[in-house]
Amino acid sequence: MALFTVFGSPIAHSLSPQIQLEFADQFGLVNEYRRSLSSPGRFAADVAYFFRHGGSGANVTVPFKQQAYQLVTHTTLRARQAGAVNTLMGRGAGQVLGDNTDGLGLVADLRWHLAKAQVGDLSGKTVLLLGAGGAARGVVGPLLDAGVARLTVANRTEAKAADLVDRFADSRLAYCSMNELPAADIIIQATSVALQQQALTLPANLAAQAVLCYDMSYGATPTKFLQWAAANGCANCLDGLGMLVEQAALSFALWHDGLLPDSRAVITKLLERNT
Ligand code: ATR
Repeated sequence: MALFTVFGSPIAHSLSPQIQLEFADQFGLVNEYRRSLSSPGRFAADVAYFFRHGGSGANVTVPFKQQAYQLVTHTTLRARQAGAVNTLMGRGAGQVLGDNTDGLGLVADLRWHLAKAQVGDLSGKTVLLLGAGGAARGVVGPLLDAGVARLTVANRTEAKAADLVDRFADSRLAYCSMNELPAADIIIQATSVALQQQALTLPANLAAQAVLCYDMSYGATPTKFLQWAAANGCANCLDGLGMLVEQAALSFALWHDGLLPDSRAVITKLLERNT
């Protein structure tokens, strides 16, 4: 039986075990998938221990994605673009590959919802990305690759948005402060405000002009950002559950020689369980 885990703090709430076991089931595989609570001081030792003691692969969530990028021995291009890692794969002899499937997971979920709402594809859309931390960094490259017409990164600390934009030499990328937000077809919430029980202050007209508002976090009830979007007239308000399952599917494929599970079937199951 292959052994997997997800490292994070907190981690008790993580849906990753449930999602990964559903994927395994689709292919008749029986895997073990755990939750591993870690800390910044212990993270490197915890990862090394896991792979020394039979671990095949792991997911990495808040707050360890950038630390994971620093400690792996090999990285994929998308991990290097993000400067962060959400997927680890053991290669034996202490070698660990770090990948980042977050951005492609977001793109897959956005595409599905845009098609469902019959409002075209990502290509040609203008996007406003709120936040420039670890979560935001992982999605810039894949959004550009998906053909967006303009991507503006807005952040409370404007210099961090400027740094992020400078990592990509792409004329479609721009940055701004939170006080000068441009209208966009798609608004993506990638800050950690919700974790701190806070909310962003955003102008109402932005929601009305957007075809889709997406919060990369998720929870049992709509986030403050999604409440703002719905209250101000955006027709398509979505949380990050789909992204969570889509990024997990890509991690699963990495660990299982390219086997790509049916992520929509798992999203449907999770939504049914939560209602
Ligand atoms: P994550 O990995 O979740 O992205 P992070 O790297 O610590 O976490 O980044 C947190 C992001 O949320 C940053 O963009 C941060 O803005 P700053 O760079 O100015 O710190 C943003 N953020 C956190 N709390 C915020 C708040 N109260 N208002 C606006 N932005 C906030």
